[in-house]
Amino acid sequence: MTFGHSHWKLAIFALAAIALLGVPQAAAAGQGAGDEVTFSKDIAPILQRSCQSCHRPNSVAPMSLLTYEEVRPWARSIKQRTGLRNRMGVMPPWFIEKDVGIQSFKEDISLSEAEIEMIGAWVDAGAPRGNPADMPPPVVFTAANEWDIGEPDIVVESAPFTMAAEAPDYWGALPPTPVGNTEDRYVAAVQIKEVSDVQGGTGGKFIFHHAIHALLGGDGSPVGSIGGPHEVGRNGQTFDAQAGRLLPAGAQLVWPSIHMHANGEQTTARLLTAYRFHPRGYEPTRKLGDLTFGNGEIDLDPMTPGQEVHMYTTLRDNIKLTTFEPHMHASGVRMCIEAIWGGRSEMLNCAGYDHNWVKVYHYEDDYAPLLPKGTLIHVTSYFDTTPANTNVIDPRNWQGLGHRSIDNMSIIIASPIVMSDEEFAEEMQMRRERLDLAKGESVVGCPLCGFEELPAAAQN
Ligand code: HEC
Repeated sequence: MTFGHSHWKLAIFALAAIALLGVPQAAAAGQGAGDEVTFSKDIAPILQRSCQSCHRPNSVAPMSLLTYEEVRPWARSIKQRTGLRNRMGVMPPWFIEKDVGIQSFKEDISLSEAEIEMIGAWVDAGAPRGNPADMPPPVVFTAANEWDIGEPDIVVESAPFTMAAEAPDYWGALPPTPVGNTEDRYVAAVQIKEVSDVQGGTGGKFIFHHAIHALLGGDGSPVGSIGGPHEVGRNGQTFDAQAGRLLPAGAQLVWPSIHMHANGEQTTARLLTAYRFHPRGYEPTRKLGDLTFGNGEIDLDPMTPGQEVHMYTTLRDNIKLTTFEPHMHASGVRMCIEAIWGGRSEMLNCAGYDHNWVKVYHYEDDYAPLLPKGTLIHVTSYFDTTPANTNVIDPRNWQGLGHRSIDNMSIIIASPIVMSDEEFAEEMQMRRERLDLAKGESVVGCPLCGFEELPAAAQN
C-alpha cells in the first residue's frame, strides 16, 4: 500500500474528524497510537455513560451491561445495534440524524461516530478485556439516576392495569390519583414511567401505548396537563427554566384516556409520575403555547417503503421551540421538521423513529429554534410498511388513520414558549451574545438572529 498525497489528506481529515466529534482524549490517543481498543479502557466508559441507566439489574433492559463478564456474550449484538446509528432498533435509543440541523440536545445519550467505530473495532478484535486496572470506577446508582429528570420531589403511583397475553387493544381511563402536594409549586420537570411485573426488563414489553393525563386543582376544577402525554418508552420532560408549570395545592392526577396493547405475556403495569419542583418563590417569566398538530388523512399502501405524509402550519406567535417530539405508529420510521420564513427554508431536524421508543428531544437552551410569527412549519413523516420494518405486524395490510398501534398517525407534539415582539427581540439578543454571533450572522434555528431589528414582515 502506498501513502500517496491523498491518503495523507484522508488520514489528517480522519484525525480532525475524530477531534471534532469530541472523543474522550484517552480513547482517541489509544487508537492513534495503535494500541488495541479494550473493554476496560475504552468501552466501559461508553457503557457507563450511555447504556447502564437501562442495562442493569431491575431496570427496563433485558440484560445487565455492568461488568466484562456480562457484556462479553453480547459483543456482536452490541456492535450491530450501535451500528444502526439513527435507525429503528439502534442502541442507545436516540434517533436524531447527525448530518442535518441542530445538534445540541440536553441529556444526549447518543454515541459519536468515533465511538460507534471504536465499538466495531473492539468487537472485530475479539472484544478483549484489556487491563482491569484501567476500569473506571463503577457508577453508583441512586434515586437521582432512576429518573432522567434527576431526583424527583414527588412520585405519584397510578392504579394498576392488567392486560392478557394476547388481547385486542383497549381504550379506557384510570381512576384519579391524588398528587399529595399541600402547597402550590412550580414544576421544573416531569417523567412518567411504566413499571410492571414483567421479569427481566420491562422495555419491549410495555403495555401502555399512551396515557393522556390532566390535573384537577384542590377544588376539583380542571387545570390542564403538565407535560405531554405518556407514550411507549417515553423519556422525561424538562421544561424551559423560564416557563415552569404550576401544580396547585391538593392536585389530583386524572387519566381520561389510556390505550393499552398486549405484549404476548400477561402483564400488570402501573404508571409512576415523578415531578421535580423549582425552588419555593420561583416565578415563571414566559408563557407556554401549544403547537401540537397533525393526524389528518393517511393512506399507506402495503409492502411499500418511503411513503411520506406532509403537514404544514403557520405560526401565529413568535416562539421558542424547546422540544422535537415526533409521534407516529408502528409503520413510522422517520420525521423531519423544516422552518420556512421569508423565502428561506431550513431543516431544523430529522430523526429516525421506532415505535418502541417514543422520544422527546430537548434542545439545549442556546439552540432551541427561535421562530418568528408567520413562519411556515413543514413536517414530513416517513413510513415503511415492508417486512424491513419489524414493528409492522402484517405488511400485507393497507393502513390508514386510526388509534390502534397497528393503524397510523402523524403528529408532532410541542408546547413552545410564546413571546411578544419585545420578548422575542430580547431572546434573540441573548442568543447573539451567548453564541457570540458576528453582526449579520444567523444560525440554524434562528433565522432572524442576523437582523439588527425585526424586518417589517415579522412586525405585524
Ligand atoms: C433507555 C433505555 C436503554 C438504553 C439507554 C440502552 N438500552 Fe439497550 N435495550 C433496552 C431495551 C428495553 C432493550 C430490549 C428491547 C429491544 O431489543 O429493543 C434493549 C436491547 C439491547 C440489545 C439487544 C438485546 C437482545 O436481546 O438482542 C443490545 C445489544 C443493547 N440493548 C445494547 C445497548 C447498548 C450497547 C447501549 C448503550 C450504547 C444500550 N443498549 C442503551 C434499553 C436501553
